[in-house]
Amino acid sequence: MEKFLGKKKIAVFISGRGSNLKSLIKYSKTKKSLIKIVLVVSDNYHAKGLRIADKSNIKKIFVKYTSKKEFENQLLKLLKSHNIDFICLAGFMKILSGNFIRKFNKPILNIHPSLLPKYKGLGTHSRAIKNKEKYSGATVHIVNQKLDSGKILLQKKVRILKSDSEKSLEKKILKIEHKIYPEAINKLLTNY
Ligand code: GRF
Repeated sequence: MEKFLGKKKIAVFISGRGSNLKSLIKYSKTKKSLIKIVLVVSDNYHAKGLRIADKSNIKKIFVKYTSKKEFENQLLKLLKSHNIDFICLAGFMKILSGNFIRKFNKPILNIHPSLLPKYKGLGTHSRAIKNKEKYSGATVHIVNQKLDSGKILLQKKVRILKSDSEKSLEKKILKIEHKIYPEAINKLLTNY
């Protein structure tokens, strides 16, 4: 237990694959890590990421979405009972309300697969390709009430090649996502 004294307690919220969760777990096990992931929460019972949590012996909880109010109340209770210091959204497909953000009152981070403020929302890769962008990338930002609009913590770009498809671009961007999410957390915590 001593080993984790002083580390921030993190909850990671997911809805699917969980590759960012995997990279955060990997980072949390490194010497320089300032976090301990104590909870993985999913609104999707079948999320692959839940198996990743299992493999790493991290507590995982499926929270069924009934209504926004009920769902968020359950989340707030969980966060409180696990003394969570901040939340990392990693492919979490529900939009958290202003009420939730206010009540939690601690940082909530998100990773988004575009160079925000460009291409908020879904379908970022196909839109960037369609618009013949030269670059796309990934952004880690603080979550506020507006979708994909909070303060940017870290951003990294990749070149879009003529030969790129949605799939190949997604792959390139995921690779940098896995790098910048831990870096952004370090950055946030060293200024905490
Ligand atoms: C990532 O592209 C992330 O930027 C976005 O959702 C995707 C989640 O992927 N918010 P994964 O579940 O972490 O593999």
